[in-house]
Amino acid sequence: MTGMDTPDEHQAEIAEFPMRRAAGCPFDPPPDLRAMQRQGPLTKVRLWNGSTPWLVTRQADQRALLRDRRLSADFTKPGYPSPIPIDKDATFIASFPLMDDPEHARLRRMVQGPFAVKRVEAMRPAVQRIVDEAIDTMLAGPNPVDLVTAFALPVPSLVICELLGVPYDDHAFFETNSAVMIRQDVTPEERAGASERLLEYLRVLLRAKTAAPANDLLSALAAQVEAGELSSEEAVQMSVLVLSGGHETTANMIALGTVALLQHPDQLDLLRATDDPGLIASAVEELLRYLNISHTGMRRAVLADVEVAGQVIRAGEGVIMANDIGSRDPDAFSGDPERLDLRRDARRHLAFSFGVHQCLGQTLARMELQVIYSTLYRRIPTLKLATELEKVPFKHDGIVYGVYELPVAW
Ligand code: HEM
Repeated sequence: MTGMDTPDEHQAEIAEFPMRRAAGCPFDPPPDLRAMQRQGPLTKVRLWNGSTPWLVTRQADQRALLRDRRLSADFTKPGYPSPIPIDKDATFIASFPLMDDPEHARLRRMVQGPFAVKRVEAMRPAVQRIVDEAIDTMLAGPNPVDLVTAFALPVPSLVICELLGVPYDDHAFFETNSAVMIRQDVTPEERAGASERLLEYLRVLLRAKTAAPANDLLSALAAQVEAGELSSEEAVQMSVLVLSGGHETTANMIALGTVALLQHPDQLDLLRATDDPGLIASAVEELLRYLNISHTGMRRAVLADVEVAGQVIRAGEGVIMANDIGSRDPDAFSGDPERLDLRRDARRHLAFSFGVHQCLGQTLARMELQVIYSTLYRRIPTLKLATELEKVPFKHDGIVYGVYELPVAW
């Protein structure tokens, strides 16, 4: 295929994306996607709206493109391969993840303070306390229980509430609405309704923090609004982003990571037996690589022609960096990348993306996962699934992969 081909010429051959995982292989990327990686570095795929962006299969090309300024994260640019119908009036989703520099950098700078390495490390004892208390509560409650509602959601929700300055008592409200935002099977109206409810909730909170500031991110944003550095609507949009991004993704890693470890008892034993912070950190990287929960890829529009693996991608075309297969690329990882191996050096995974849009919360997510994976299975050594693996409801329909619920017993 050449850069001059139009998508229509090959319409019949073009596979639909995203694809389904194989039955019985809940941790592996879809077999058709892996076949595409074996066949070559680039292919076209067809999205829900009939558009046919390029799919980049290999990690080296994905990295190169993710730091290439000729690619844009702006969803209004021609060719942008949207995973869902985007309502251009639903203002929240137009925040900095879907903008280019310098606007993206200006806004990102305003919220990045609490996510710096030192500030995150200072939160580690508080996170350990939150994790221990959540386990105490779980152990005192019914057995079996749903790990998602009893542990995987409350822990990152409590952490992000503390960081942002949102009352945890409102968690049912913001967790429910955040979940709607990242489902693929809801209508644009339902998604816009959920985002508007979250925006209004944070508008009220931001006003309260302006009147009575505390030591949290919302108060810092309120001060920046007062100083004229930020509009209040920009501050509200970014607060929704941090609140939603801060709990839903990490919660999915906690629950899905637990299913994966329970299916790999030798690896779970390794984690349970160690006090070595280096091994715990490498276990987290390996689980991020192996599970790669952002399974619908990094999406960009091409602003000026770029060449990838000998193929010219034209301005106005869309590109998807399929980081789930990128994280299983045999050229990027030593040993067998299909195996979960907690001792592997997995740091080159793309689970947090790469380049200017790489995950703002990655240091926080890593620290939370290190505390959780090194505490949960030691404190509840008999933890096991309370259902068959085949009956676990995996989030095949989500933009972020995980499980809807996870019955566990001990
Ligand atoms: C295991 C947990 C997490 C995973 C796997 C994850 C994954 C990602 C990925 C793949 C991106 C990049 C999207 C792209 O390049 O287009 C991203 C961006 C982002 N993430 Fe996370 N994330 C996680 C946790 C968090 C947390 C805890 C926060 C806290 C607020 C957060 C906030 C954000 C924000 C604000 C962005 C946009 C960054 C930008 O565009 O500059 N994430 N995340």
